[in-house]
Amino acid sequence: MQVLKERKSSREFSPQELPAQELSNILWAAFGINRPETGGRTAPSAMNMQEIDVYAILAEGLYRYEAKTHALKRIHGNDIRALAGKQPFVKDAPVNIVMVADYSRTTKASQDRKNVYANADAAYISENIYLYCASEGLATVVRASVDRQALAKAMHLGPDQEIIFAQTVGYPKGSR
Ligand SMILES: Cc1cc2nc3c(=O)[nH]c(=O)nc-3n(C[C@H](O)[C@H](O)[C@H](O)COP(=O)(O)O)c2cc1C
Repeated sequence: MQVLKERKSSREFSPQELPAQELSNILWAAFGINRPETGGRTAPSAMNMQEIDVYAILAEGLYRYEAKTHALKRIHGNDIRALAGKQPFVKDAPVNIVMVADYSRTTKASQDRKNVYANADAAYISENIYLYCASEGLATVVRASVDRQALAKAMHLGPDQEIIFAQTVGYPKGSR
């Protein structure tokens, strides 16, 4: 009840980096494995397709969250924060999470459902991030306002991949 009371969108962030443990917790809350025996995740997914990949855009580069090993895989070392969204706070915030659908993992779904499911599945991940942030006093906002073409190029995404949402995370402005 407490985190639901405190869940909100914030658009003012401190540029202060988050500690590695905090980033690790955010990513696990977002879409980590909470049932290792089955590979079950912290967010539900339609037909358990688990088609959303969670990326983290940091000042030092782009990383993909590998849930199986709970590790970050470095994709490249370019600072692409300015492409993570159209709003001015995005480029200075320490973390931008990007939820990317990989349609090569949606073969079980009919063609007209794939995009609906990808949007729903990403939204659950987003809410997990919101609730974790509420529990830790972190600021966050999910964003559909993204130049998907430019960001997909900067993220080196393939033809089966589509950016669904981005979500900025950091300390609230003025808190440190
Ligand atoms: C699908 C979706 C897309 C959103 N896109 C943006 C966005 O691009 N930029 C932004 O500042 N907020 C965005 N938001 C946040 C909403 O504006 C926000 O949730 C709404 O104003 C209610 O405020 P609250 O989250 O504090 O309750 C988005 C929210 C959702 C669910």
